[in-house]
Amino acid sequence: MAALLDNTCHISVNSTYVNVEGRTEKFMERKRSIIQLFDVSKQYGAGYALKNITLSVKVGDLVFITGASGAGKSTLLNLLYLATPVTRGQIIVGGMNLARLSPEKIPYLRRRIGVIFQDFKLISHRSVFDNISLVLEAAGQPPAVIKKKVEEVLERTGMTEYMNALPPSLSGGQQQKVAVARAVVGDPDIILADEPTGSLDACSAEVITRYLMEYKEKGTTILIASHNTALINSTGFDVLYTLEAGQLAQPGENICAAMNPIMGNETRGRVS
Ligand SMILES: Nc1ncnc2c1ncn2[C@@H]1O[C@H](COP(=O)(O)OP(=O)(O)OP(=O)(O)O)[C@@H](O)[C@H]1O
Ligand SMILES: [Mg+2]
Repeated sequence: MAALLDNTCHISVNSTYVNVEGRTEKFMERKRSIIQLFDVSKQYGAGYALKNITLSVKVGDLVFITGASGAGKSTLLNLLYLATPVTRGQIIVGGMNLARLSPEKIPYLRRRIGVIFQDFKLISHRSVFDNISLVLEAAGQPPAVIKKKVEEVLERTGMTEYMNALPPSLSGGQQQKVAVARAVVGDPDIILADEPTGSLDACSAEVITRYLMEYKEKGTTILIASHNTALINSTGFDVLYTLEAGQLAQPGENICAAMNPIMGNETRGRVS
């Protein structure tokens, strides 16, 4: 590290140390972007689900995407793991340009992302345990590791007693907990959570939210799509984006106009 420093102001690209007039100080690492959207639009037929979206997400940030029903929140998350392609624009995720990703690289992208789907998307004829273990099997984990990790996420989501159940026999809230367990079990770099507590009672929502926040503490980047302002406040987000009819709302058009401070199309801090 010292070899990178000299007596002039020198910022070494890969370090967290800055030397200013002989003093060496430790600075917060300047965080790099893990997700970038450049002028992204998504069209379904003649209508736009998203229009001209440009934003970036830093490594380790907790980002909320809010907006009314139909505003485009799920569509935005769907684009990030290539559930559907963009109509225009470019998306970079973890250094990968999604437009140029060859079909054989798509599983690699998806292994880095844990998704909590708004409609859960559990496999109905596989047990709860198998729904979760599939993630680790696809990543080539050995059976003993799979068993240990699946049991751990089942315990943390309160679903241990249902490990042999089939998803259709579970309530919506129970299925949502399984969806959360499946999203985190592979320890992904990015978690995309689409209304992750939408089917949960208040107590379960708090448990699940705290569980997700543990992943943020570990450095996982988390994007949550939700119109639930209680959830937004309970987590303390880094950045909040508001979508209105597929476009990023300008400050003032924001559903939470009193948010402070407002930086461009993004809001940092808490919803007041
Ligand atoms: N597969 C699709 N085919 C056609 N239109 C779609 C499709 N998916 C989404 N849309 C349209 O795109 C728009 C945005 O939908 P999206 O599901 O992203 O909204 P949302 O913000 O997630 O809403 P909600 O809060 O209800 O979940 C809507 O007008 C919707 O009808
Ligand atoms: Mg949605």
